[in-house]
Amino acid sequence: MPYTTIQVYLGPRTYEIAIGDSLLGEAERYLSVWKEKLSFASSESSKALVVTDRNIRSPHAEMVQQSLADNGWQVELVSLEPGESSKQISVVTGMYDQLVNMQADRQTLVVAVGGGVIGDAAGFLAATYARGIPFVQVPTSLLAMVDSSVGGKVGVNLPQAKNLVGAFHQPLGVLIDIETLKTLPEREYISGLAEVIKYGVILDESFFQYLEENIEGLNARESSVMKQVIARSCRLKADVVEQDEYERTGLRAVLNYGHTFAHAFEALAGYGELLHGEAVSIGMVYASRLAEKMGRIGAEETKRQVNLLKAVGLPVELPESFQFSADDILKKMLLDKKTVGGKLRFILPTKIGNVETVKNVPDSTVCEVL
Ligand SMILES: NC(=O)c1ccc[n+]([C@@H]2O[C@H](COP(=O)([O-])OP(=O)(O)OC[C@H]3O[C@@H](n4cnc5c(N)ncnc54)[C@H](O)[C@@H]3O)[C@@H](O)[C@H]2O)c1
Ligand SMILES: [Zn+2]
Repeated sequence: MPYTTIQVYLGPRTYEIAIGDSLLGEAERYLSVWKEKLSFASSESSKALVVTDRNIRSPHAEMVQQSLADNGWQVELVSLEPGESSKQISVVTGMYDQLVNMQADRQTLVVAVGGGVIGDAAGFLAATYARGIPFVQVPTSLLAMVDSSVGGKVGVNLPQAKNLVGAFHQPLGVLIDIETLKTLPEREYISGLAEVIKYGVILDESFFQYLEENIEGLNARESSVMKQVIARSCRLKADVVEQDEYERTGLRAVLNYGHTFAHAFEALAGYGELLHGEAVSIGMVYASRLAEKMGRIGAEETKRQVNLLKAVGLPVELPESFQFSADDILKKMLLDKKTVGGKLRFILPTKIGNVETVKNVPDSTVCEVL
């Protein structure tokens, strides 16, 4: 039985996130229940394409595959190269061929077992094949569990920019098995914690406090702490997504706290230098200092964030090797999609647990912070 389930309420696209230990071995039970939601589901034998990467294939993806096969599903598995380069259209095209070969139809499930790269690429495959077939997310990185698997954004990169081609395609369900975190490399795990801390800062002071009080459990990936943290993070993101599913009202933008800085750092540092969560961690500190400079919060609020980020091993300042000027960073930020009419917009805290969108932030103030 799962430890907990979170409902993401989106009308006819409502779905469940099941969180627990050792769920992969019984994946079929969840998938067959979720599949019944399809109005056109028939009793014919079920088909699935499991998409994963080489690092996750064994044992995680193979456990899902086995559970389905044992229950009479016709199941195929595709294992991609690990890393961002798999999030490209040519890789998805290869998977279209596989779906054609297995005579996939609108009842065939695409099952993404992996990190955000696999979820985004497999989700895009499912969103576009036959104008949309159902898919299930089985996130295995902390970032994918608390962020990319919730909200229905799927897509691939173009050489010009990340995530430039994509769709909103909600999964039929999300299966989170905490056990999979045991094999996640330390740096990837810590990087995922940046998004967790972000939820506390933007939406929930008591969650932030819970994190402050559970540093040891967090660092040891203690099962009970992980379940709480993942469930709370998914709930907070789901609350935002439910109010702004298609990113139209601007509400979903609160999730971008620290990200205007982070995207600029990532773009300038070059691939692999800074993981996304590391860049977000530094970005949140800069955004908080910016809020201080604008008289919106006190130094104490920034200090609390810095202390928590440091306690879990996240960086709070740019590495020595990062040799770009404030001007370089500013120019990159002006290219970011959150710029409106050449003016920088930021998500800034008013206290721990609340943020606001601040328009027309003067370039000079940003430069002072940098
Ligand atoms: N769709 C969204 O809303 C959304 C939100 C945030 C990020 N993203 C996307 O997510 C991607 C980043 O996701 P990520 O950080 O999970 O990257 P990732 O998928 O590349 O995974 C990181 C690394 O960890 C490995 N890994 C994952 N789970 C593992 C496990 N349990 N055991 C061992 N190794 C494991 C992967 O093989 C990979 O090498 C980016 O492409 C980003 O654009 C999407
Ligand atoms: Zn992020």
